[in-house]
Amino acid sequence: MHISRRGVIAAAAALSVAAAPKRKTAAKRIHRFPKGFLWGTAISAYQSEGNNTNADAWVRENVKPTLFKERSGDACDSYHRYAEDIALAARLGFNCYRLGIEWARIEPSEGAFSNAELDHYASVLETCRKHGLKPVVTFNHFTTPIWFAARGGFEEQDSPDLFARYCGKVAERLGGLMHMATTFNEANIQYLVRLLAPNAAANEAARSMMRAAAAATGSTKFSSLAFADPEVSTPLMQEAHRKAYRAMKSARPNLTVGITLTTQDIQTKGDASIAAKWRDRLYGDWVEVARTHADFVGVQTYTRFTVDENGIVPPPKDAELTEAGYEFYPQALGKTIRWAAAAIGKPIYVTESGIATDDDARRIAYIDAALESVKDCMADGIPVHSYVHWSLLDNFEWTSGFGKHFGLVAVDLKTFKRTPKPSANHLGAIARANAIHLKA
Ligand code: BGC
Repeated sequence: MHISRRGVIAAAAALSVAAAPKRKTAAKRIHRFPKGFLWGTAISAYQSEGNNTNADAWVRENVKPTLFKERSGDACDSYHRYAEDIALAARLGFNCYRLGIEWARIEPSEGAFSNAELDHYASVLETCRKHGLKPVVTFNHFTTPIWFAARGGFEEQDSPDLFARYCGKVAERLGGLMHMATTFNEANIQYLVRLLAPNAAANEAARSMMRAAAAATGSTKFSSLAFADPEVSTPLMQEAHRKAYRAMKSARPNLTVGITLTTQDIQTKGDASIAAKWRDRLYGDWVEVARTHADFVGVQTYTRFTVDENGIVPPPKDAELTEAGYEFYPQALGKTIRWAAAAIGKPIYVTESGIATDDDARRIAYIDAALESVKDCMADGIPVHSYVHWSLLDNFEWTSGFGKHFGLVAVDLKTFKRTPKPSANHLGAIARANAIHLKA
């Protein structure tokens, strides 16, 4: 791994006590993570690469009406600038890099696989390796090829076979360069969308966008993963995951293949709280799928929800809200790790944790508190193997456009210049030292 002089100085300054473990008072204030712990950042293909014109989200962005505030366009231009991003992540101090592969690039029309795009991702993964970053690869991060959406997406009976074929091909060609892989990002996203469905008007707006997308593609059944009916689609996605897991394992028996879930800290308010029911509705059968068809589970947590006898109650009046509108509550991460350990019992990787904010000092505070909760879980014997922060870059936050800042690194959307924020150096220093400061 390339370590710059500036990076070394930043690491030393941030964790000066790490260099002096013999001083008793200092040693007490440090917690070291186990050797081999993975420290990284996460990003998805669609949100960072730019110009994913063959993906279903591109259609949804470009129709009228649309839920998207703005278009992704060039996004962060990471499709061309991946080497710069990877070198930056390595220089900051990380040892792993979570990235996505865009199915729509690999298989731009049904059954036609692009060797040029497979070569492109081979270069991306080789670049990670060259910089000492272990690639953690997501095969599907919400988006699918347009042809797949137009034929009915994950609401069609043969969709599991098509997804498994794509995953098998990618594993065969690129699996040797990967450290670990996951099929779906936040496999249970349909359940979260249904749980949080704001109101009838918002649901109708989503349906109008999907009708416009169907019309634009000349299809009567255009279906996108996050907008599909879970009653029909979730069982097919589960079958798709199982088949893909088997296809990836048969192509690469040694490849570690897991699944990531959107994990929410669902807290109970009052004796009649329906929190347990909400947990069931959020995870459903995915718990069983993760138990039987995953080598690990990826936990992805941002906040908590409090649930009383009627459902979600708003955050306390004095609660700090993030740019994304939800409560600043980094301790949620420890809670969901504990849930996943108890419910699924597989090795746990934190594959996303982060905060949308313009105030980078709050990002640092968020990281520190989230990591303290990870450390507590590990002290209780829970096998946690990574902390991967969402995100390396300020990127395209789906329907919110570029207005929500999850990045450790700012991106100028005209020049594409990357500017690390103090939080990037902060987390990078922790990664390099493999240790955190403890409070008091
Ligand atoms: C998703 C990302 C998203 C992030 C922040 C995660 O649930 O995987 O795509 O950008 O949350 O909202």
